[in-house]
Amino acid sequence: MRLKFNLVTVAAALLGLGLTQESDQRQIAIIGAGAAGASAAYSLQKFAAEAGVHVNITLFEKTDHIGGRSLTINPFDDPAQRFEQGASIFVQANPILYGAMTEFGLSQRVLDADSNPVMGIWDGDCFVFTVDNSAPTWWNTLKTVLKYGVTAPQRAQQLTAATITKFLRLYEPEFFPFQSLTQRAQQLGLVEATGVTGQQFLSANNIGARYAHDLIQASTRVNYASNLAHLHGLTTMVSLGAQGATSVQGGNWQIFHEMAQRSGALIALNTAVVGVEKTSGGSSTSSKYTVQTTSGSTPGSPATHPVAFDNVIMANPYQFSGISAGEGVLQTPIEEIPYVQLHVTIFTSPSWFSPRFFDLPNSAKVPGLVLTTLAQSDTLTSGVNGVGKAGFFSLNNLGKATNPQTQQKEYVYKIFSPEIVTAQFLSRLMGATVPGGFTGGNSPISWYKPHVFQSYPKSTPRVTFQDPIVGSGVYYTSGIEGFISTMETSALMGKNVARLIVDDMVSANAGGTRVKGRDSSVWEEKQRPLAH
Ligand SMILES: Cc1cc2nc3c(=O)[nH]c(=O)nc-3n(C[C@H](O)[C@H](O)[C@H](O)COP(=O)(O)OP(=O)(O)OC[C@H]3O[C@@H](n4cnc5c(N)ncnc54)[C@H](O)[C@@H]3O)c2cc1C
Ligand SMILES: *[C@@H]1O[C@H](CO)[C@@H](O)[C@H](O)[C@H]1NC(C)=O
Repeated sequence: MRLKFNLVTVAAALLGLGLTQESDQRQIAIIGAGAAGASAAYSLQKFAAEAGVHVNITLFEKTDHIGGRSLTINPFDDPAQRFEQGASIFVQANPILYGAMTEFGLSQRVLDADSNPVMGIWDGDCFVFTVDNSAPTWWNTLKTVLKYGVTAPQRAQQLTAATITKFLRLYEPEFFPFQSLTQRAQQLGLVEATGVTGQQFLSANNIGARYAHDLIQASTRVNYASNLAHLHGLTTMVSLGAQGATSVQGGNWQIFHEMAQRSGALIALNTAVVGVEKTSGGSSTSSKYTVQTTSGSTPGSPATHPVAFDNVIMANPYQFSGISAGEGVLQTPIEEIPYVQLHVTIFTSPSWFSPRFFDLPNSAKVPGLVLTTLAQSDTLTSGVNGVGKAGFFSLNNLGKATNPQTQQKEYVYKIFSPEIVTAQFLSRLMGATVPGGFTGGNSPISWYKPHVFQSYPKSTPRVTFQDPIVGSGVYYTSGIEGFISTMETSALMGKNVARLIVDDMVSANAGGTRVKGRDSSVWEEKQRPLAH
């Protein structure tokens, strides 16, 4: 059967090459230029070229930049100094991002040589564990073993590796592309992880509760702003898989910027899509869509984009997109999923954190990365109260930046918290009065920038996920965020949708009639029996 499929593809590709005319060109709208939209554009161009079919891509982005939640911030508003404000890390096990970084000749960020190598886990009362990454590995291993035993860290590592191996099968020809994420999650045995909480998943795999509470929960809190009892097992494993993490020098968004550029798409920045209308196609063979947009210059009055599109890819969380879909556009409703509202506060200071904030002696040096877990007195709750006595999820010295006024290097800090960071909190943290306006006067803070994100789904246990085909020729990428929310998985879904569209073009050319989106799924699943 697989052989047959391949022959059909090859024949269709040849046919496509011979017959392509302007009218064979698909007009494709991508709404949103984050990881998913940029990757969809890049892969569409690549797959179409390989198959000898033609696509004309229009990429709509409501902000003035490409990258979405991957974005950098400039301390002292100096564009030359850049630090990640949103998505900061990815790992070598992320084939799309890692591959693109290499292919595009982007370099990995190197840590400042004098950056503080100590990580501490604070529970609001005390540091329950610290590790000095400049110390020899054996020393840190010994420290971990003495406190948590041999088996918990070992089993956690094995479980993470096994889960990543299962996940990576999604990229293999047997499982890629996919019409149904739910089906793939079942086939790969990943619903066993998504269907239960992190706590349940870890205890089912005999991973010691103390290790889970301290180290694993510190990871889920910094990565997903959630305690182990309130996010699912797969997201828990993703949090643990952040070892050996990297990021792109100057900003991860450059990967997506490069993808968008290389896709040949027409990129419409500062252009928000506010409506999608189905204009024709009572018969499913010729659905066309128009999009209504507002631009930065005319925010109030929507204009209809002159091109009628054959395919529309919605590449952003629909519930926050402000898009109204006209009749017949969404044949499957898009489920709203609760997101974590996360405050990300970045500020600079010539001084280090105050030891007194952490009840440490004045001579002590506070770790450069403070992760948190729940205190003994904390009750397990989710949402804002889930942060517990610590009051924040993480506190991180990102490196240093030069203050243009003094020409001195200062520390750049980042705080993740469920509520806005107040001047009172910062006064205690820095051990000096921070005024209401945060900077100025004798403030220990020289530059300050708060931001609030609808960051990622709350990731509560579930076994079904929004599938990518939501209408006839209409696709949606953000359903994957309830499964795993990372730059890589969004990029994977963008690539998946691109493959589905190009396969559909090829099959339409081969069959003479044009079947799109949903209709092609029948064809495809027939041709590709799914191995179990
Ligand atoms: C603080 C924070 C930390 C994170 N840390 C990590 C991390 O370390 N590693 C990691 O892999 N992931 C991390 N993530 C998650 C990661 O950012 C997301 O999973 C990923 O960026 C999602 O990509 P996306 O393309 O699906 O959506 P987005 O990045 O949100 O992109 C969607 C784009 O669509 C645009 N858009 C929305 N509506 C419209 C409209 N109507 N018209 C036109 N354009 C529109 C938006 O402006 C945006 O540019 C983090 C997220 C946050 C917030
Ligand atoms: C491709 O799309 C752009 C933007 O939507 C449009 O201006 C252009 O006319 C299209 N080109 C063709 C050949 O259809």
